[in-house]
Amino acid sequence: MCILVTGGAGFIGANLCQRLLEQNHEVIAVDNLITSDGGNLNKLRSFPNFTFIKHDITNPLPHALTAYRLPLTAIYHLACPTGVPNLTKLAEEMLLTCSIGTRNILELARTHKAKFLVVSSSETYGNPLIFPQTENYTGNVDPTGIRSPYEEGKRFTESLVSIYVRKYKLDAKIVRVFNTYGPGMDRSETRVVPRFLRQALSNKPITIHGKGTQTRTFCYVDDLVNGLLIIMKKGKSGEVYNLGSDQQVTIRQLAELIINVTKSKSKIIKIKRLKHDHESRLPDLTKVKKLGWKLHTPLEDGLRKTSKSLNPSSFYIPNHVDQ
Ligand SMILES: NC(=O)c1ccc[n+]([C@@H]2O[C@H](COP(=O)([O-])OP(=O)(O)OC[C@H]3O[C@@H](n4cnc5c(N)ncnc54)[C@H](O)[C@@H]3O)[C@@H](O)[C@H]2O)c1
Repeated sequence: MCILVTGGAGFIGANLCQRLLEQNHEVIAVDNLITSDGGNLNKLRSFPNFTFIKHDITNPLPHALTAYRLPLTAIYHLACPTGVPNLTKLAEEMLLTCSIGTRNILELARTHKAKFLVVSSSETYGNPLIFPQTENYTGNVDPTGIRSPYEEGKRFTESLVSIYVRKYKLDAKIVRVFNTYGPGMDRSETRVVPRFLRQALSNKPITIHGKGTQTRTFCYVDDLVNGLLIIMKKGKSGEVYNLGSDQQVTIRQLAELIINVTKSKSKIIKIKRLKHDHESRLPDLTKVKKLGWKLHTPLEDGLRKTSKSLNPSSFYIPNHVDQ
C-alpha cells in the first residue's frame, strides 16, 4: 500500500509515518516545515520505503505527488499550523491550510480513489458547555475570537470533508483529536507537557497559569496512532470520532506528576492566566471504543517515555506558552 501523510514531519505525523513504515507500507510525507524543525525526518529517512516532499499544500500539488508511480491507497491529512502563539502569528496560514490545503488533498484522494482520514481537533467544540463532549455536540465557538483561525479552520475542514463524502462518495473519516503528547514534539514546542518536562529536567520553576485548577486529558501518541489506524480501517465513512484520553488531571497535578517522574528539584510557580484559556474539555470516547480502541498507556508511563526522549542540550524554553 502507498500511503500519504500530510504534516508528516510534525509530531503526530512523524509517529504515524514511523508506524506505517514499520508495517512495510510505502509512505510519502508532505510538509512545508512551517511548525516543525524537520528533526523528526532523520529517523524516517532511514527507511528505504519513505519519501519526503517539502511542499505547502495550499499551493497546487507538485507533479511528483499527482503523478506518483504508485496509486495512493490511503491519505492521512494532518497538515495544519499548531500552537497557541501561532494563533496570531500564523492565523492566515491556519485558515488557508484548513480550506485550500484540505481541498487540494481531497481532490488528490478523489483522483486516486484513496481512503481519506482527516485529523481535526477538540477545538471544534470551542469552550464547551456540555461534558463530556459527544461527537454530535456542535460546540461553543467564537467565530472572530483569538482562537478562531484554528477552531473555525478545523470546522471548515470538517464541513468540506463531509461535502466530499456526500457529493463525491469519498470514503472519508473525521477524527477530533484531544491533547496528545509523546516523543517527537518539537524542541520549541509550547504545549504544556513538553514545556513542563523541559522546565523540570532543567530544575527551573514550573509555571502554571492561575491556580492550575483547569483540567486537561492527555493521550500518549502511540495510543493515538493506534486509534488513527483503527478508524481508517474500521470507521464508517462520513462519521466523526473523538480520540484521546478521558482521564482528567488538573494542570497542578500534571506539574506534580512531572516533578515526580523526572525527580526534579523544580518548584511550581503561578503566572497570569491567559484570557482565552479554556477551563476543561473531556471527550466521550464511546464511538471509538466500539471500534475496538482503548487507551493503554498510563500518564505516568507516557511521561517517563517522553522525558527520556528529550535531549536537554537542545532545550529552548519559549516565552509564549500553552496550557
Ligand atoms: N498534538 C495535539 O495535541 C493535537 C490535538 C488536536 C489536534 N491536533 C491536530 O493534529 C495534527 C498534527 O498535529 P501535531 O501536534 O503533530 O502538530 P505539528 O505542528 O507538530 O504538525 C503539523 C505539521 O503540519 C505542517 N504544516 C502546516 N501547514 C502546512 C501546509 N500548508 N503544508 C504542508 N505542511 C503543513 C507543519 O509544518 C507541521 O510539521 C494537526 O492537524 C493538529 O491540528 C493535534
